Amino acid sequence: PGTGLADALALIADVPDFPEPGILFKDITPLLADHTAFTAVVQALADAGRDGSGRPAVDKVLGMESRGFILGAPVALALEVGFVPVRKVGKLPRETYAVSYALEYGEATLEVHRDAVRPGESVLLVDDVLATGGTARATLDLVEKCGASVHAVAMLMELGFLPGRETLGDVPLTTLLTV
Ligand code: PRP
Ligand code: MG
Repeated sequence: PGTGLADALALIADVPDFPEPGILFKDITPLLADHTAFTAVVQALADAGRDGSGRPAVDKVLGMESRGFILGAPVALALEVGFVPVRKVGKLPRETYAVSYALEYGEATLEVHRDAVRPGESVLLVDDVLATGGTARATLDLVEKCGASVHAVAMLMELGFLPGRETLGDVPLTTLLTV
C-alpha cells in the first residue's frame, strides 16, 4: 500500500439517493482534487502492473471510458508505458474490435482500436469501480481479440455485494476499497 492511501480513500464522499432513491453513490471527485491523495491512489493502482522487483510488468494500460480515463492515464505514466482508451461505441475513428455486454436495461458496447494492443502484449486494466463486472469482462474480451493478455485488473473500488469479481475468472484483481 502506498503512503497515505487510507487518508486518500477517506476523501471518497458518500452521496445518498444518487442517481436515484436508495442508491448510495461513492463520489471520488474530492479525492481527485487532492494532489497527495490522487498520487497515492495512482501509485497503488500502478503497483498492480509491477513485477516482484517493482519493475513494470505490462506493455500498456487500458482505461475504460469515462472514469477509467481519469485513473488509467496517470497510472500509465507512473508505469512509463502507453495508454489505450477503451471507448463507448462509435467514438473511435479507425478499425476496432467491439464487445457488447448486458446492462440492467438493454446492452452497451465497448470498442478498442485493433492496432492499439499488439499480439503477445501484456496489459493492465484500470477503472474506478467494479460493480457487476460487465465493463471489465467486456474489456478482457477485447484484449483477447487483440491477441494480447491481461496481467491484472486494478480498480479503486469494488462493490462487495455484487459478484463482479467472479466474472474475471483467473485474472488477478486489485481493488483499494471494498464497499
Ligand atoms: C461505471 C463505472 C464502471 C462501471 C462498473 O461506468 O465507472 O466503469 O460502471 O459497472 P459494471 O462492473 O457493472 O460494469 P459507467 O458505464 O456508468 O460510465 P462512466 O464511467 O462513463 O461514468
Ligand atoms: Mg465507467
